[in-house]
Amino acid sequence: SLSALGLIIASYLIGSIPFAVVVSRAMGLKDPRTFGSGNPGATNVLRTGNKTAAALTLIGDAAKGWVAVYFAARIAQELGLPPVVVAACALAVFLGHVFPVFLRFKGGKGVATALGVLLAVSPWLALATAATWLIIAYVTRYSSLAAILSAVFAPLFYLLGGNVAWPLDKPMALAIVVISVVLLFRHKANISRLLTGKESRIGSGSKNAR
Ligand code: G3P
Repeated sequence: SLSALGLIIASYLIGSIPFAVVVSRAMGLKDPRTFGSGNPGATNVLRTGNKTAAALTLIGDAAKGWVAVYFAARIAQELGLPPVVVAACALAVFLGHVFPVFLRFKGGKGVATALGVLLAVSPWLALATAATWLIIAYVTRYSSLAAILSAVFAPLFYLLGGNVAWPLDKPMALAIVVISVVLLFRHKANISRLLTGKESRIGSGSKNAR
């Protein structure tokens, strides 16, 4: 239907707002696409040393994932649209971040936005996934490795807790799997840097690896 299509397009457009670039510009920092990994994301903004800017990027990119799915779910309920529409919005906001129309389709890796999506699906799911990220990041100091392993665990958490902690929805399960797969592909360069020992660690400052 037209309203379903409208929700999906709106989700994609919300996802396209690149908070790393917006926050950096607003705070007078270098464009994150020009240094470090070149990725417009919270991890790379942190390489400027500005923790506030990194936190705002993380919050903004996560919030857009949450907003899109939260409101899609409410509106879908109101209009009697099927759950597949909400799942499509979850995928659309994530893909908006990764392939944003506002950055000529060259966006980020989707970690924060995926977390925001999971938060709208279930706070417990988001908590389990964020805890996974935090533990791996704390132990290894690799943001990318934490994201990669969290992406493997998130769909498993969703299935494990499904119909226990939250209702298990097949379209949403599929959306979460696709989000994880795309997120893993976006970390291709990180994976090769991890394998060659060239990945930069959190707190190690700016590096010119790309
Ligand atoms: O936030 C994405 C993270 O997993 C990796 O970022 O800049 O180290 O490639 P980056």
